[in-house]
Parts: sequence; structure tokens; C-alpha cells
Amino acid sequence: MAELETNADKILAEAMRQSAKIEEDIKVNPMKYRVLTGDRPTGRLHIGHYFGSLKNRVRLSKLGVPTMILIADYQVLTDHDAFDKISENTKQLVIDYLAAGIEPGKNVCIYPHSHIPEANQLMVPFLTLVSSAELDRNPTVKDEIIKSGMKSVNAGMLTYPVHQAVDILFCKGNVVPVGKDQLPHLEVARLIARRFNNKFCKDSEPVFPEPHALLSKTPMIMGLDGTAKMSKSLGNTIMLCATEDETAKAIKKAKTDQERRITYDPVNRPEVANLLRLISLCTGEEPEAIAERIGEGGGGMLKSTLTEALNEELRPLRTKRAELEGNMDYIRQVLNDGVSQAREMAQKTLEEVRHVMNMEI
Ligand code: TRP
Repeated sequence: MAELETNADKILAEAMRQSAKIEEDIKVNPMKYRVLTGDRPTGRLHIGHYFGSLKNRVRLSKLGVPTMILIADYQVLTDHDAFDKISENTKQLVIDYLAAGIEPGKNVCIYPHSHIPEANQLMVPFLTLVSSAELDRNPTVKDEIIKSGMKSVNAGMLTYPVHQAVDILFCKGNVVPVGKDQLPHLEVARLIARRFNNKFCKDSEPVFPEPHALLSKTPMIMGLDGTAKMSKSLGNTIMLCATEDETAKAIKKAKTDQERRITYDPVNRPEVANLLRLISLCTGEEPEAIAERIGEGGGGMLKSTLTEALNEELRPLRTKRAELEGNMDYIRQVLNDGVSQAREMAQKTLEEVRHVMNMEI
């Protein structure tokens, strides 16, 4: 166990180092990179997604980095029985992306991975490049299996990290903005790229780049109930699509503590610190300064400040969101365009793969 932890620590340290390097270089050489990110279509996005990843995607795409945004609909099948909402959730995700400022077009494409058959073909050779023991010890998968309470583990659950490698490699994505929990999956993708190139490209150029993680700099956003993570299933979040009233009500119920005077003390007062950080994410002011200003105003003022800041930050997004919801034909077109662009890339990669695997006819 100790050995595994050291290994995970090493991977994290290396990912942080690479991440910082890429962060510097990507501003100067945006075209050297291809960003690939994805979400499972299990529901609409909340402010945790917005501050933790969505804003960062908007920033990267605006730097001119080619960006692929993938909707991992197949992955929903690994631990959710509710596939009846996948299509609706997919479209709602697109609406959240566009409302947040993602601009689909030449540089940015959005598509569900189930619609890219040429990419999915890569799954078969990729599965031969990892051992079942390697799949068995993926800590993120283990965690999800425990959390889902599933009695028997379906093979899709065990192998989805390989499919995630397909997601990343088919378009030769080399930068994957993720949270720490996704690092084991990124390692699988790196391993597969390396093994594929070593095995099949001895006499030719490597087909796949080894992708790097771009670790989020936003600290983890806690749920409003003070439990570890903001997540829709725990009901401790604020959805991007919520009204201003719903936002105010949710914040009123947020957990704080007994002490009246507001201070920024993440260790001893994690709930208050979380609310202060949320205000800071909206206004750009330091949490310490916000705390100082509220001071004896107490929890009530802390909450009203957050309500105001958040509603103001999200107002343009929500206005745009409402407009987009009335234009589903456009949303469908965005997806169809994304699928066409992604398939073209997948076809090219599959040809290269067939060539080096000696499977041309
Ligand atoms: N596994 C990711 C999640 O649960 C979603 C995902 C699928 C993804 N394919 C990806 C993320 C490729 C990054 C790159 O959130």
C-alpha cells in the first residue's frame, strides 16, 4: 500500500510540474496543443463545474487552443441505469457550455463519443495493451464501484479508462484539463500511447502523443452543506440554470458556524471559508479582504454578499441559457457539426492505426 501511495504521489508531483510548464507555454504557442475535455451527461452543470472547469475551458479556447469537448454518453452506462435521460442531458450540457462562453466552430468542437464509430474501433487494439491487473487496481474506478454499491462489476466499468484513452488519443489530444481524481485515467492513456507506439511504430513515426494533465488551480469547491464535494446527487449545489431566487434560497440554507465575526480560516472554519472563496471567485477579491469587510456583519451578511455576487456573475450566462433553450435546432446543429469534425479526425487516425498494425487490405 505504501508503495502504491508513493507511486501516486510521484505521478501527482510530475503532473503538477508538467501542468505548470504547459500553462506557461500554451499562452505563447496555443497551436502546439490540442485540449480534450469531457463530461458525463448525467445532468446539468452546477457552480462547482463552472468555477472548477468550465471557466478554464473557455479561457483555453479563447487563447486559440484547438479544443475538443466530448460528451461521454457511453460512460453513463457503466454505473447508471438511467439512460432514458441521456439525450436530453447531452443537449443541456451543450447549452451550459455555450452559455458559459464556449464558441463552437473551427477551433472548438462538441460531440457525444458514441457518435464517433471510427474512434470506438480503437478500443479493440487498446484493450490488448493493458493487463486485467492494471485495470483492477485503478483507484478511481475502485472508488466508483464502492460508491455505486453495485453487486457485480460490469466489464464496461473496469474498462472505461481504456475507452477514455480512446477519447483522448483518437484526436491526438495532448492536454487534458482534469481534477486529481482523473490522474489514474490519464496514466492509462499515457501507457497505451507509449505501448502502442513501442509495439507498432518501430519503423515509423509514433502515431500517438503522450497526453498530459492540466491540473485545475481552483481549490475544491465544497457543497453548501459543508460535506466534502459539491455534487448534484448530494443536493448541496447551485445549478447554473437556477433562478436568482432559487440561488438565494440555497445560500440561505448553507451551513456556517456559531461564531459571529467572519474570518477566513480554512482549517478551523471550512464552511465559512468555502463561502468566502466562492465570493472571491466571483469578484476577484481575496477571501481575507472579503472576511475583513464583512466582519461583525456575520453569517447573514456573508450569505447576502455571496447571493449578490453569484447572481451577478451568472446573470449573463443565465440570460444566454434561456435564449438557447428556445433554440434546440441550433443545439442539435452544434452537435452534428462537432460529430462531423471529430469523425474526420477519427477516420484519419484509424487509417494510420490500420497501417502500422498491418491491417490494410
Ligand atoms: N471520466 C470523466 C468523468 O467522469 C469524463 C470523461 C470521459 C473524460 N472521457 C474523458 C474526461 C476524456 C477527460 C478526458 O468526469
